Amino acid sequence: MKNIFVVHGPNLNLLGTREPEIYGSTTLAELEDEIAAEGAALGLHCTFFQSNHEGAIIDALHVTAGSVDAVLINAGALTHYSYALYDALVAIDKPTVEVHISNVHARESWRRQSVIRPAADHVIYGRGARGYADALRRLVATAAVPPRRISYGTAESQYGELRVPAGNGPHPVAVLIHGGFWRDVWTLDLMDPLAVDLHGRGLAVWNIEYHRVGSGGGWPLTMEDVAAAIDYLGVLAPEYGLDLTDVVAIGHSAGGHLALWSAARPEQYPEQPDAEPDVIPHRVVALAPVADLAEGHRQNLGEGAVEEFLRRSPEEGPERYEVASPAALLPLGVRQLIVHGDADVRVPIDLSQAYADSAAALDDDVTFHAHKGSDHFDIIDPASPEWAGVIEWLASA
Ligand code: DQA
Repeated sequence: MKNIFVVHGPNLNLLGTREPEIYGSTTLAELEDEIAAEGAALGLHCTFFQSNHEGAIIDALHVTAGSVDAVLINAGALTHYSYALYDALVAIDKPTVEVHISNVHARESWRRQSVIRPAADHVIYGRGARGYADALRRLVATAAVPPRRISYGTAESQYGELRVPAGNGPHPVAVLIHGGFWRDVWTLDLMDPLAVDLHGRGLAVWNIEYHRVGSGGGWPLTMEDVAAAIDYLGVLAPEYGLDLTDVVAIGHSAGGHLALWSAARPEQYPEQPDAEPDVIPHRVVALAPVADLAEGHRQNLGEGAVEEFLRRSPEEGPERYEVASPAALLPLGVRQLIVHGDADVRVPIDLSQAYADSAAALDDDVTFHAHKGSDHFDIIDPASPEWAGVIEWLASA
């Protein structure tokens, strides 16, 4: 993976002045500079093309296809109706990530449809300029260790990506659960770099997707999906040589919440989503987790994210907070590593400090790594000292 063709469709030449409340104030030239710099940091060379004409984009794809390894495309409104563009992407047959700056799922209903989507390997939307950097990381990770996409349910988001080391196993297993305040603009690609890193260290990695708020998720479906995805390891184990006596759940942010919750899933709560788990993680690594949903609600994390997720305030639905919040489920009875940076403005470190103190007071085996100066995303960078601490903890168990 070296040469990336970055394609922009109609009206994206007007970035900077076009509906800045939706697309921001960065111009296309500035955006391309940013993408080029992100690409260079990943060892990639990006070539750029923009046109307002469908045929010109298709011609450019045909001509450039021979000399590029992958395509990153924001086709603008062509996304929603150009079957010719879909055909072109299928014809050139390159790894492709579809990107949209805005949240196309939260605007006019026709923007939800993408006719080029089936020609792309992944789609990223609603993350602004960051989406392009995430798309580049996605291309690098899938080229480094191609995952197997496996559905654990019938809905589009009920799937995981499995990476299994060479050999018959049995392989220890890491379940990765991405974050993003349970909202649908954030997807499993956030965990790609960690997936590749852990696979390289000899773990089988099951990076899971799940229904999220904005695409049918939230209480209880999000939690039922996570439970079903973890239980699905029981189905995968014989074929892929997975060691179900050694399963660690590793979650970031809202995924940290889900990882901690997945290790509790207690049978004593009949109202718990999936009260009868088949597979329970033996250990949990929670990276900047939302470990206490009531406190997260009180602090209005993610501008109302907790209430959107549980569909109730603590006053309206205290029972949901009781069974969904790791802090309320303590002790979990499994070994836990909690990692948090004190420069995290999305999920403040005090949630983790209080959670770890309560867990320890209730005799849970909990380790807390507090990092000076680290923010919310530093700790999911496999090159970071924070991640080195996680690897050390995993090895020490
Ligand atoms: C867009 C979304 C499309 O719906 C729209 O037609 C665009 C830009 C985006 O980047 O958010 O032109 O692709």
